[in-house]
Amino acid sequence: MDPAENLTIRQPDDWHLHLRDGDVLSAVLPYTSAHFARAIIMPNLVPPVRTSADAEAYRSRIEEQIPGHHDFTPLMTLYLTESTDIEDLKAGAESGLVKAVKLYPAGATTNSDSGVRDIDKVMPVLEAMAAIDLPLLCHGEVTDPSVDIFDREAVFIERVLEPLRKRLPELRIVLEHVTTRDGVDYVQSASSKQAATITTHHLMIDRNHIFKGGIRPDYFCLPIAKRSDHKTALRKAATSGNPKFFLGTDSAPHPSRDKYTSCGCAGVFNAANTLSCLAQLFEEEDALGHLEAFTSLNGPAFYGVPYNENRIRLRKTEVPVTYPAEIQVGEDVIKTFDPETDLFWEVVKDDTN
Ligand code: DOR
Ligand code: ZN
Repeated sequence: MDPAENLTIRQPDDWHLHLRDGDVLSAVLPYTSAHFARAIIMPNLVPPVRTSADAEAYRSRIEEQIPGHHDFTPLMTLYLTESTDIEDLKAGAESGLVKAVKLYPAGATTNSDSGVRDIDKVMPVLEAMAAIDLPLLCHGEVTDPSVDIFDREAVFIERVLEPLRKRLPELRIVLEHVTTRDGVDYVQSASSKQAATITTHHLMIDRNHIFKGGIRPDYFCLPIAKRSDHKTALRKAATSGNPKFFLGTDSAPHPSRDKYTSCGCAGVFNAANTLSCLAQLFEEEDALGHLEAFTSLNGPAFYGVPYNENRIRLRKTEVPVTYPAEIQVGEDVIKTFDPETDLFWEVVKDDTN
């Protein structure tokens, strides 16, 4: 087969993933663990994963649900609150359990009510994190209702991120799910302590998708998708090979009944087709040679963990690949991200493993 139709890469990691708990956890986890070796697990459960004991218990619940033939390691995070216990956090990090801490500005998104209202109140925690080199993962949006929802990321950079960088330049910070040219430019020009994750869906949709022919709750996520020129900037960053940008799918399952309602939840479940989407868009950008950097090299380098030794193979197909359009969880369904285009790349098990 033509090598251009076949691509073997180190096994990817997902540096931003929502797995939830209980029945949803067991339904969605196999889609990630089938292809990914590791994932940074978001802590926005109800109640949140606030302490090392919470993280350890959650990790056990995840591990119990990993299919026996999958080799997958969940990397745990703590949810930063104004009462985070520094000693507990340090113990969790030193034991290797806690890999990062997530900052949700209170009220910014799903299950963020226990998040941070006043950054000054968490400065001692952030200083302790800088001292032990534990990364801070930012949901980078201000919550000020007077700021337009499409501007909340750019304003976060100006009001929160840059002042924080100045106060604590040694703290490693990831601007999670970056959605704007402003965010890309900021991270690109910042020090090597700063990086950004980019989601699959933000590389494929812009804000028009949310309103095409009516309102489309399946494309509603936070940060909200922006204009198409921002999407172009994200695609350029992701496909550039620049080590500051790596994959964080932000796969965030919600039952459709919680999305198709007068106040629908934010989140896109993309774990079931992420790698097909990515291979296709990297091919469109003539950048398949940089796919491995985005999915498998840049993240481990930033987090200071080894690359995965296993490989996966992506193969170009003649007929569109199939994936479940929705998954059933009890009485509920969770819709898979619809890229509104056929996908022609499939993941096949690599025989060199
Ligand atoms: O769209 C989103 N969904 N953005 C977030 O920040 C949270 C996530 C979720 O947990 O559903
Ligand atoms: Zn998220």
